[in-house]
Amino acid sequence: MMKIKTVDLTKTYRVGPSRIIAVDKVNFEVNKVTFTAIVGLSGSGKSTLLNLIGLNDCPTSGKIFIENTDTSLLSDRERRKIRLFHIGFVFQTFNLLPTLSALENVELSMSLAGKSQKEQREKAVRLLENVGLGDRLSHRPRELSIGEMQRVAIARALANDPEVIIADEPTGELDSKTAKEIIGLLFDINRNHKTTVIIATHDEKIVEIADMLYTIRDGKLKLEH
Ligand SMILES: Nc1ncnc2c1ncn2[C@@H]1O[C@H](COP(=O)(O)OP(=O)(O)O)[C@@H](O)[C@H]1O
Ligand SMILES: [Mg+2]
Repeated sequence: MMKIKTVDLTKTYRVGPSRIIAVDKVNFEVNKVTFTAIVGLSGSGKSTLLNLIGLNDCPTSGKIFIENTDTSLLSDRERRKIRLFHIGFVFQTFNLLPTLSALENVELSMSLAGKSQKEQREKAVRLLENVGLGDRLSHRPRELSIGEMQRVAIARALANDPEVIIADEPTGELDSKTAKEIIGLLFDINRNHKTTVIIATHDEKIVEIADMLYTIRDGKLKLEH
């Protein structure tokens, strides 16, 4: 399991004359396989925090440690490598490539990781079958329902066997029934694959199933349990 720890992590934005503190001295930690939820209203800093933890963005101050390595000391290439091989991302609006089929969307991550075409194909088929899309392999995103699109995105996030899945409001666009299915799928992945899931949401129902629950308000993170 990949350990993640932040120390007084802070991100501020300058907008005209004012300064917005999007993430305010956050101390976050995961050091074992958990289903970890970050719950907060829109604008509370969830996406900013997840982008920092996922090494997509750099803090204004404070630090992010991955396996005790201070990530501010890593090169862009080393950061990219951690993202590619150790972290899977799931987004609110799926971020699938519209011109690629479900299969090709999942294969792309493996291609970037240097896997052979044969391995890419076999594994993409298996991952899509596992998320219940064995009969949708050749469909392009616009030919899928939104729930199916999010399943493709989850299969893609798993392509390189990440230790951590970071999901930023993955059910924000979904109706409540589909949202429940997607949460169930992420929960199964956490339990069966021993993959940590860090999920940002404003869905209060997550509170009941999360092993670790953080709340965030005005960029300030608080561990609830
Ligand atoms: N690129 C940016 N430039 C300026 N302000 C931003 C930027 N990104 C986010 N913010 C601000 O930071 C705060 C937190 O945003 P965000 O992390 O997107 O919250 P959430 O994901 O919880 O809705 C908000 O007030 C938002 O307006
Ligand atoms: Mg957000």
